[in-house]
Amino acid sequence: MDLQEIRLEELNPDKFIAEKIEEISSIVGDGLAINALSGGVDSSVVTLLGHKALGDRLKTYFIDNGLMRDGEPRHIVSLFKDLGVKVELFDAQKTFFQALKGRTDPEEKREAITSSFYRDVFGDLVKETGAKHLLQGTNYTDIEETVAGIKRQHNILEQLGIDPEEMYGYKVIEPLIQIRKSSIRQVGKALGLPEEIYNRPPFPGPALAARVIGETTPKRVETVRRATKIVEEELSDSGAFQYLAILHEDRVVGIREGKRDFGLQIEVRCWESVDAIIGSPTRLPYDVLDRLAERITTEVPGVVSVTYNITKKPPSTIEAV
Ligand code: XMP
Repeated sequence: MDLQEIRLEELNPDKFIAEKIEEISSIVGDGLAINALSGGVDSSVVTLLGHKALGDRLKTYFIDNGLMRDGEPRHIVSLFKDLGVKVELFDAQKTFFQALKGRTDPEEKREAITSSFYRDVFGDLVKETGAKHLLQGTNYTDIEETVAGIKRQHNILEQLGIDPEEMYGYKVIEPLIQIRKSSIRQVGKALGLPEEIYNRPPFPGPALAARVIGETTPKRVETVRRATKIVEEELSDSGAFQYLAILHEDRVVGIREGKRDFGLQIEVRCWESVDAIIGSPTRLPYDVLDRLAERITTEVPGVVSVTYNITKKPPSTIEAV
């Protein structure tokens, strides 16, 4: 990999911002660019950088793929509106669920999401808008993990030998490719993003599909969405790096109202990590675990079992897919 990392100790956020604004303006010239905002730290930082560089010549979309957290699409659109950035909500739920239908293999699911996003949704949006460039928030860690063959990150193209211009008809600009999450947070803060955004726990590009083992159907995503909401409410002040809920494919026998119930299993993970390369489970107090189990089994229909992951990364990974 010939890409040079800029480490946190070496980063001067203001200088980095000025250089990236200059770089984006000179690449795009007087043309148009588009980008997708998911509300995660990386895409939020790219959105602000791009708007500072291009103003109205950057068209920002929130792609509602049906895999987002509860209330997220509207919340993010309105938060950016308050920052003076217009974001268009684009409903692509059918496209993504159609592509995910019947798929259970993790890498096939990731591939389905990548092509729905780049080929089906953005291929069309690029044609409609006349944009020649897509701005995206690929970071140094995404590249490293993809090159190492651990997971195909949803946003990696060139490292997989895909030429986006040839395949989808646009060029990709990746302003964050030399820095990792902790540096991206510093850049976000310097750009004036609210802390709610720049200090957000990471959220994967494939969204809740990264947390559904087996087939990703609207119903199964809804189950994991409800469990995620509870986990985020209960663990947001844990100080952990990331916390999540996973829906398992296997069902287990439980008891509900005195009767056998062959129900669903949710796994909770809560991670201590600096850069997501290695991680260990947070030693959560037992009463917190107890409350999670109680709430998830009573508030999420069909769930009869809640487990807590006690494995480090490696050999685990942070997400399940
Ligand atoms: P894993 O599961 O590989 O995750 O240990 C490492 C970190 O990356 C996030 N993640 C992703 N982020 N696109 C992203 O932008 C992806 O495809 C993706 N997959 C995982 C994950 O949430 C964790 O913070």
